[in-house]
Amino acid sequence: MDKEASNSKIPIFGGIGYLGTYMVKASIKSGHQTFVYGRPITPHKINLHNKFRSLGFTIVEGELDEHDKMVAILRQVDIVISLLPFPQVLDQIHIIEAIKVAGNITRFLPQEFGVEEDRLSFLLPFEACLDKKRKIRRAVEACVIPYTYVSANICGVYFINHLLRPHDDMTVYGFGEAKVLFNYEEDIVGYTIKVANDLRTHNRIMLYRTAKNVLSQNVLISLWEKKTGRSFKKTHVSEEELVRLAKNKFEFEFLTCLEELKGRNLPGFFFITINILMNADSPFPDNVQASLIHGIFVKGCLNYDLRENDLETSSLYPDYEYTTIEQLLDIFLPALAAF
Ligand SMILES: NC(=O)c1ccc[n+]([C@@H]2O[C@H](COP(=O)([O-])OP(=O)(O)OC[C@H]3O[C@@H](n4cnc5c(N)ncnc54)[C@H](OP(=O)(O)O)[C@@H]3O)[C@@H](O)[C@H]2O)c1
Repeated sequence: MDKEASNSKIPIFGGIGYLGTYMVKASIKSGHQTFVYGRPITPHKINLHNKFRSLGFTIVEGELDEHDKMVAILRQVDIVISLLPFPQVLDQIHIIEAIKVAGNITRFLPQEFGVEEDRLSFLLPFEACLDKKRKIRRAVEACVIPYTYVSANICGVYFINHLLRPHDDMTVYGFGEAKVLFNYEEDIVGYTIKVANDLRTHNRIMLYRTAKNVLSQNVLISLWEKKTGRSFKKTHVSEEELVRLAKNKFEFEFLTCLEELKGRNLPGFFFITINILMNADSPFPDNVQASLIHGIFVKGCLNYDLRENDLETSSLYPDYEYTTIEQLLDIFLPALAAF
């Protein structure tokens, strides 16, 4: 039985970002009073903010470390969803502190929406990112904040765009045979709004595993070939190459260390040096991407067996008709085929 309540008040952190935009629309569509807590408006964001305001929700301007302001806002709402980007994972500690003081939040969904970090492990660069997410989970639990952790696996549009954007050559990771779990962004947010309002998901991890959307990269490419009537040359990136790309250990640890120093009370010249180094050309983000791709597309780590007590969305909401990847390819066929 779907125990979704109606008319919750939901602020969304990162609500005008990539996944945030989908989430805000889904929340409004479900009848919830929806807010976005975002950084103060700058001239280049005016049009974006106006467009969002016209959709019918409020943007509350504030920084993540404005504690009193955040507490005052949280005292007026029920559910908090965070869709901040990866570099801001640890900044969520400010949200946790404000939720703790506000004392009235019925559910917190921290920035997750990817792999199940308490169950999976990856090569170092991505593993270090997951460690930060684990720290946030442990902080939520230590503060006894009601939570749901969302493991959405991989976003269909986001990754299909990466994997299939029509080149004459398609890049295939490893042998292309590992099974991968895709979910359409609209379903991820549709499920999430249900999950956030459902008593059954209180203090639980939600696994988004839509059975018809488990497919390998080779199957995805052949589906695409059938739909476009084209045949693509496949260029394989070997597992060894991905491991090599992921291995820039020193650089990664060095930059991680600098990132952490940024939060400390150090003299000004430190910040200038750190900013120059952080912005210098470096393979740092590529390392993370290589280790993520290695785990998902070569090792097939998302395709693990469910445990008896696992909560899985398509079983919890059997009446929800999710979009299959094949349908998603049809939706995006005109746009993608134009490249
Ligand atoms: N599983 C997948 O395949 C997949 C794919 C994409 C994303 N995701 C997940 O979705 C979540 C959000 O990612 P996204 O790509 O949607 O994020 P995004 O678009 O890069 O950013 C979201 C918002 O965060 C705010 N923000 C950016 N930098 C900030 C800063 N320094 N301080 C405070 N706020 C800042 C911005 O809003 P303001 O300017 O209003 O502050 C921005 O619009 C993450 O958890 C990510 O892991 C998952």
